[in-house]
Amino acid sequence: MEALNRSLRADWRLWPHDVRGSRAWMRGLERAGILTRDEAGRIDRGLAAVARRLEALPGPGGLPDEDIHTVVERMLTEEIGDLGGKLHTGRSRNDQVATDFRLWGKEAIAALRGLVAALVEALAAKARAAGADPMPGYTHLQQAQPVTASHWLLSRAWPLVRDLEHFRAVLRECDVLPLGSGAVAGCPFEVDREALASDLGFAGVSENSIDGVSDRDWAARLLFGAAMTGVHLSQLAEDLVLFSSSEFGFVRLGDGYTTGSSLMPQKRNPDVAELVRGKSGRLVGNLTRMLTVLKGLPTGYNRDLQEDKEAVFDSADTLGVVLPAIAGAVESMALDRVRIAGALRPALFATDVADHLVRRGLPFRDAHRAVGALVRAAEATGRDLDRLTLDEMRAVHPAFADDVFAVFDAAASTESRAVRGGTSAAALEAQFEALAEALEEAAAPPGPGLEGRTGHKRRMSARR
Ligand code: ARG
Repeated sequence: MEALNRSLRADWRLWPHDVRGSRAWMRGLERAGILTRDEAGRIDRGLAAVARRLEALPGPGGLPDEDIHTVVERMLTEEIGDLGGKLHTGRSRNDQVATDFRLWGKEAIAALRGLVAALVEALAAKARAAGADPMPGYTHLQQAQPVTASHWLLSRAWPLVRDLEHFRAVLRECDVLPLGSGAVAGCPFEVDREALASDLGFAGVSENSIDGVSDRDWAARLLFGAAMTGVHLSQLAEDLVLFSSSEFGFVRLGDGYTTGSSLMPQKRNPDVAELVRGKSGRLVGNLTRMLTVLKGLPTGYNRDLQEDKEAVFDSADTLGVVLPAIAGAVESMALDRVRIAGALRPALFATDVADHLVRRGLPFRDAHRAVGALVRAAEATGRDLDRLTLDEMRAVHPAFADDVFAVFDAAASTESRAVRGGTSAAALEAQFEALAEALEEAAAPPGPGLEGRTGHKRRMSARR
């Protein structure tokens, strides 16, 4: 039971938050008249001494305590004697741990958001440097239509901007104070929870003490954001693995991000991308882990909730390592424009050839059929599409004109797609601007949330 019961190894990192929350609770009790000024001062100095002791410890190894809350309380009593026992008045480890976890969560989410934003910026900078260089666009991993390398790179930045937006919403959700919920029914002493919230820097307070001690939705949503980010990073990593292979050769990763083989002297393995792709497994797993823990819980606090923290810590730690690594890999990588240009097959322009007929008045379906016949004719004679003569084309359909050969040009093709979200230089410029705006918006501090805002409280008391 003891081994099962202990969570100290997992929750050790919460000690600064536990001390901070405890000092705020001490001030709340003083304001409520439960502690005298002198008692509060002694507890405060005691907690400061506890923090110094904890700071000096390398870790929880050797400590006999069950969890970080009992460590802090034991040490406080060692520092100031029986008075230490007064701190837990009106408080339970249930609202205490929920508070500590959220204090940690707010810091962790802010740090993650910074790392995601840095990766978006690295991708945008690389895209900027790629200019209008053409690249094959793929569907089904088959060459489909020409795009630009910058367009591809930006396509990997947008999903991360959405992740940032998600994390902003999670931060807002996390920014609600549970302290004062007690074990389940609230606090019988007149502790001002609003004052406690501003003391601890929370935007609001929880409105239901039962929900206050059992709500881990923010943590589950953080894990979803981490899993989704992990999936996005894994997709980017897969592109890098594929494009750095000798078959593609589009991308060369920096020396610091590849490894050689102990056996094969020619190897430049894209380990960074493979590790990132592999790490997505644990990010997805941690979300499943949390949702599974939460699913069957009956009303109130249940000890199952002790399982919440390791999953979240692991996902935050994982992204904390993965994001800077992949951002560094992106910064370090060189695009091989010769290899990329050399990969563009004339068949990429088949749609442009069909559009040539459309511009000459043909219904698209007829144009599609005619170009399909051209593709087969070219294949049958072992030639590329642009090697057919105008006469051969006209034999398939009389509408082909001699300027059809002008469509076999990547710049012309990308430039022709000038719609918003398209590949033309102007559309790309607009996309860079839109991305910068979206990034600024998504990286901004969260707006007011649902619960316990001061305005809401004022409305409530006005009604009373
Ligand atoms: N170690 C516990 C956790 O991580 C703290 C709360 C324990 N509460 C209790 N009633 N036993 O959730």
